[in-house]
Amino acid sequence: MNQIHWYERFQKAIDEERGSRSSRWMQLATVAQDGKPKVRTVVFRGWHGKNTLYFLSDSRSEKADEISKTPDVEICSLLVNSLCQFRFRGKAQINQNEFAQKCWDSLTPEVKSLWFLPDPGKPLLKSDKGSKSIQNNYLMPHNFIVILVDLSLVELLEIKNFPHKRMVWKANQNWKLEYINP
Ligand SMILES: Cc1cc2nc3c(=O)[nH]c(=O)nc-3n(C[C@H](O)[C@H](O)[C@H](O)COP(=O)(O)O)c2cc1C
Repeated sequence: MNQIHWYERFQKAIDEERGSRSSRWMQLATVAQDGKPKVRTVVFRGWHGKNTLYFLSDSRSEKADEISKTPDVEICSLLVNSLCQFRFRGKAQINQNEFAQKCWDSLTPEVKSLWFLPDPGKPLLKSDKGSKSIQNNYLMPHNFIVILVDLSLVELLEIKNFPHKRMVWKANQNWKLEYINP
């Protein structure tokens, strides 16, 4: 019990969500261009290597520039069935190579079509309002990006039982488990 690894704990908590859609929603915080924090929801897509998780996004979105300027990010995940809050810290990088191609190939045409919509965050034009037809043969566009986050710290707060439990694992301490006050 003492040496349980955060990865096993996270997988167990995810399994307890029994495939609920929202269990894969995470809050990703970046440092905005004005130096202030900025947070948004993204879909957790999985692991790329042992301590690296990833999301899919659009290079035209502000988070892409923010990450290029300041790669430090924090991610928060709340898993409601197990009443666990995970906080992940790490450095993000943008990937557009073969791994991105593999991710692209796994998407449905409907999801792929999102990368062909007008620039996210720009004013909505009247001409852009109509629904676009969905094709089956989309090639990976230049604005498709994978955001890889190489983790340096994982913190877990469990509030299912009293007293609550809080623990932290740090990469620079060889992921040794440390209990801290909740
Ligand atoms: C449930 C949900 C899931 C989302 N998943 C993603 C995602 O996986 N990737 C993404 O880039 N944006 C996702 N978004 C949209 C972002 O929250 C955000 O609005 C968008 O990426 C623009 O963010 P930015 O301007 O801060 O870069 C999602 C939004 C919601 C509500």
